Amino acid sequence: MSLELLDDLRERPERFIVGMMSGTSCDGVDAALVRVKRHGSKTRVKLIAFKTLAYAPPLRARLLAEKMDAREVSSLSFELGDIFAQAAVAMQEAAVENGCKVDLIASHGHTIAHYPPRRDHAGCGTFQITESAVIADRTGVPVVSDFRTRDVAAGGQGAPLVPFADWVLFHRPEEFVGCLNIGGIANITVVTPKLKDVFAFDTGPGNMPIDGAMRLMSHGQHHMDPDGSHAAHGEVIPALLEKLLDHDYFDQLPPKSTGREEFGEGAYLPQEIMNRSHFKPEDVMATVTVAVAKTIAQAHQKFIAPLHPLSQVVVSGGGARNKFLMKALKKELKPISVRTSDELGLPGDAREAIAFAVLGNESLCLRPSNVPGATGAQHPAILGKFTV
Ligand SMILES: Nc1ncnc2c1ncn2[C@@H]1O[C@H](COP(=O)(O)OP(=O)(O)O)[C@@H](O)[C@H]1O
Ligand SMILES: [Mg+2]
Repeated sequence: MSLELLDDLRERPERFIVGMMSGTSCDGVDAALVRVKRHGSKTRVKLIAFKTLAYAPPLRARLLAEKMDAREVSSLSFELGDIFAQAAVAMQEAAVENGCKVDLIASHGHTIAHYPPRRDHAGCGTFQITESAVIADRTGVPVVSDFRTRDVAAGGQGAPLVPFADWVLFHRPEEFVGCLNIGGIANITVVTPKLKDVFAFDTGPGNMPIDGAMRLMSHGQHHMDPDGSHAAHGEVIPALLEKLLDHDYFDQLPPKSTGREEFGEGAYLPQEIMNRSHFKPEDVMATVTVAVAKTIAQAHQKFIAPLHPLSQVVVSGGGARNKFLMKALKKELKPISVRTSDELGLPGDAREAIAFAVLGNESLCLRPSNVPGATGAQHPAILGKFTV
């Protein structure tokens, strides 16, 4: 493998790229095999295959640990490298079935710390593990990884990075489209007709407090509320809802990003939930889920509606599968049409993995792919590091 190979790939009219992502929910790695043509605003994308490899519960628990020492970090990085490599190999097999060959792997890795620049933060940093050397070694394919650091170095939040890909996939000549991804954290991209106008930010909590509340209410038995079925049988508890909507993050102006540090269950859920007080579990689930929908709708009301009328909101991420959350979101965002990415023909679970394939393509072409209007970076930057 050599640098000439990257030069050669850059010159090709189309490339087959595997994008891989492990989000804040720590549920598994998503891998998408994508055919990418050209680059920049002319990029064309076709999804060929997609797969999620779920993490075994002990690994998930280790990733969710409040603290880890250097040995654990290095060990986890190699273990995740192996799992990502398995997912990449599955995509290589899918490529063979489809008569093509994987040219490049774009790995977001897994975030274990994210402290973006803030006025009130002394230090800042972001740290994604998942050893790219392991992925390159197992697959024999060059890997581009570690996308967030360059944006943070350029004064940005390092997140969200999907806006460039959202624009490539969803821009319309005369419409403003909201691309909402509900992972552990929820983020929205305002896809404007012109790429230079795109902006995006993390609205705040997504599935993270829903999963956390479910874990607490079920004494660790369940890690999510399937389809929102528990929440659907509960009543909102107004006093708790008020507490959940009272957080400084919601008033902060975009660009902004957040993570488990602010919206993990220990940091965000009120004491009454943490103590499993007298509430009915379904009522807690209804309250937390409605709170998530309201934080998204309020972010729209405060920061998007005054600038652009959205024609529709397209929802992706695991949260799109939570029927109760989708219902609450439709009610809160009325009269804007709210649809899942799946309904538009693009599998919502694959969207972030596809996005990293698109970002990897830009990095390969030595083009910047952070959107300063989304991350707050001082300048556009070429993201990622190559392992060949
Ligand atoms: N059928 C479902 N019903 C409700 N919630 C779901 C369902 N499937 C996935 N989820 C939620 O989505 C989360 C995973 O979403 P994902 O988009 O992978 O997030 P991340 O990017 O943070 O990993 C799960 O932790 C769970 O909360
Ligand atoms: Mg996930």
